[in-house]
This record gives sequence, structure tokens and C-alpha cells, in this order.
Amino acid sequence: METFTIEGGRPLSGTLRIHGAKNAALPILAAAVLAEGQFHIYDVPHLKDIDVMLQILTALGATATHADGCVSLDTTSISISHVPDDLMGQMRSSIFLVGPLLTRLGEVTISRPGGCAIGERRIDLHLNGLTALGAKIEESEGYIIFRAKQLRGTNIFLSFPSVGATENIMLAAVLAKGTTRICNAAREPEIIDLANFLNAMGARIRGAGTDTIEINGVARLRPVSYRVIPDRIVAGTHILAVGMAQGHIALSNTIPEHLTALIEVARSCGVEIKAYHDIMEMKCSNRPRGYDRIITSPYPGFPTDLQAQLMAFLSLARGTSVIKETVFEGRFKHVNELARMGASIYVDLGSAFIRGVSRLSGTTVEATDLRAGAALVLAGLAAEGTTVVEQVHHIDRGYERLEWQLQQLGASIARTTA
Ligand code: EPZ
Repeated sequence: METFTIEGGRPLSGTLRIHGAKNAALPILAAAVLAEGQFHIYDVPHLKDIDVMLQILTALGATATHADGCVSLDTTSISISHVPDDLMGQMRSSIFLVGPLLTRLGEVTISRPGGCAIGERRIDLHLNGLTALGAKIEESEGYIIFRAKQLRGTNIFLSFPSVGATENIMLAAVLAKGTTRICNAAREPEIIDLANFLNAMGARIRGAGTDTIEINGVARLRPVSYRVIPDRIVAGTHILAVGMAQGHIALSNTIPEHLTALIEVARSCGVEIKAYHDIMEMKCSNRPRGYDRIITSPYPGFPTDLQAQLMAFLSLARGTSVIKETVFEGRFKHVNELARMGASIYVDLGSAFIRGVSRLSGTTVEATDLRAGAALVLAGLAAEGTTVVEQVHHIDRGYERLEWQLQQLGASIARTTA
């Protein structure tokens, strides 16, 4: 088992380039299935989830290499329609492959993607959307089999602006006959990045980033080269890191407007943040103030993927803060671990009531999921003494060598294999 050992109490200083966005790269890699040929996709982070996606694409018949952030992918020979069960089980995001594979091969078999530590992770919106486009769906013995000779455009209303369902429907609609309109679509920046990638391939998508996306089906798409947007959640994690450990850092390769909600909260709590072009500079030299109430919600609201990290930050702030989690019902697994470091947090009816304490104490804690793990690392940076975070493989799913990133910013953190 790999762990992070962190010596707390050291202010951060230095500069760091933010890597490409996991949640943009994953659907973009799936979208490459929609055309035959050689793709070059840049700034793809070296993460466990990306490795799994590349293993799946290879198992389906593609060839892929990933070096220095560049994925070279040849999708010419994709011919397998069954996503390997063991890989499907490792990453529920492989459901993004259903739309592209159904379009390309006319049939797809997947094992039902499991839930995870943050919630049930239902896929009914994906299934309803694909059915509306003309897919026939059969479930048997834990497998879901999708079949469609030709998908046809239609209007689809999402009862919740699901990121994955919006992406899957887009991926199924770009080569469908006719026009598809997705109403109440997710508006995340990663949706815009996927639409830009697909349009570069020859798709005709309008409205990405708004709640109505229109896709006019085309006859074929072509392979392209493309650069993925920066990871706003990684950048936000570092903003909260300096709010906890204090100090003065600068981040490059950022898109500040992707972080409006977090920047507003962090500034209100006392973190100085300056943004110019793709650079963000932040400074914190005092104990932050609390924040009355934050409600996580779909973009452009406060992102659920920064909720755990914000909770760690507010656990050290002055006063009482409340965080209501509305996107994933099980996303408070970090509360108990933060409490073991001395945080005072009470959870009731989907809200966490955080009474700020003046200090946290280092101890051994366990990462239960990706963002909970990141929150515990931030707590370790600010805690007195040594913190050991166990099960860091969860963190490796979304942060490329987080220990190296934080070492660049002056933190005392080391990866150890126990
Ligand atoms: C994407 O997950 C992200 N993952 C998540 O990031 C992120 O937290 C989430 O969007 C919300 O922003 C990737 O992009 C790979 P959803 P996704 O569909 O698509 C319910 C991280 O830490 N729902 O918007 O699975 C669902 O149960 C990860 O990087 C249905 O009910 O999120 C949840 O409560 C975690 N039916 C809510 O919608 C469906 O068919 C949001 O899910 C689909 C979703």
C-alpha cells in the first residue's frame, strides 16, 4: 500500500503548472472512437483513470501511447464491442464509450458500472438518452447490451444536468441522422472542451456551455490533434492548500473563469487571489474566516469536486461554516477522518456544520475516495506534526504525482510504500 507522509506547518511558496483536466481528457479519448486514424491529444495527465481508459481502447482494438502528456492514438482497427469487465469495474467513466461504440459498431456490451464511495452513481439518464436516439437496450446477467443500426436525432430533456449523460448523448448524436437537442444539459467547462474537440473532428455542435446543446448529425468525422483544457479542480485544490498552510504561490496553465465560485469563497475567507491570463497568484498569511453557507451544485455553482477540500479549509477557519452537498449523496466520507485530526464537524440532513478550530493534529488517516484523499493531504499540510495518508491510489486517479506538485510548492511530503 502506498502512503503520503506529510510534515505539517510549513507555509507554501513557489510556482506550479497545472496539468490537463482528467474530466475533459476521459470523454475526449472516448470520442476518438468516432473516427478512424491517428490522433494526437496533448496535456493528457498521467493518471490511473487515464491509464484505464487507454487500456480499454487498446482492448477494443486501438493502439495507444502516452508520453510527456501526449496521447498518440490510432483508432483504425477498433472492432471489439465488449468493454472488458475488469476495466469497466475500475472506472465507471467508461460508460462514456457506449455512445461512440454504438455509433461505430452498432452494438456495445458493458457490465453495469458500479457505484463508488461518493454515491450510487445511477446511469438512468444515459440509458434514457440513448434509447431516445434509437438504441435498443437489454440487460442480462449483470451486462447491458446496446444495439442500434442507425441512431436518429431527437429532443432530449435531462431531469438533472448530468455531466456524463450530457457527454454520452453528445457522443451518440454527432453521427446520428438529423438534429438532437439536449435540454437542461450540463454546462461544465469539460462539456465545452468535448464539443470543441468534436467540432474540430467535423461535428456540428452549438450551445455547449449553455443548458441547451444542439447537435446536427454529420456523415463522418476525422482524426485531429488537440490540447485538453487545464484541470480546474487541481487548481482549486492548490488554492485551498495555500489557504490552509498559508504562504504565497503562483499557478500557471489555469483558466480563472472556470473557478469563479471557488475564488469568490476563498477571497471572502481571506485568501488574496490575483488572476491575469493563465496565471493565478494567491497569498494567505492569516487564519481564514469561515463562510456562512456553501451549497454544491452543477456548474457554474460551487463544484462538488472541491467540497471535501473546502471542508478541510473551513475546519481551520474562524467561526462556523455550513456546506450542503446536493450532487452526490455519499460525499462526506472525509468527515470522520478530518475529525480524527481534530476537526469539529457535525453532519445532518446532507449538510456539514463546521466549527473552525485553531489547529489540526497530524495522525494516520485513510483516503476513502479521490477528493476526500486530497482533502486529507491539505489537512496534513496545515496540521501540527506528521500526517500519514493511506490508500493514496485513490488520489492518483485525479492528481498527477500530487506529492511532486506539492514539493514544488515547498511542502514536506513523501510517497512511501508500506
Ligand atoms: C462527472 O461525473 C465527473 N466525472 C465527476 O468527477 C463530477 O463530480 C460529476 O461529473 C459532477 O460534476 C467525470 O467527468 C469523469 P453526473 P458523472 O452524471 O458524470 C446523478 C471527480 O472527482 N445521475 O453529473 O458521473 C448521479 O447519481 C469525479 O473527478 C443520475 O441520477 O456525474 C449524481 O447524483 C467524481 N442518473 C448526479 O447525477 C444518471 O444517469 C451527478 O452525476 C447520471 C447521473
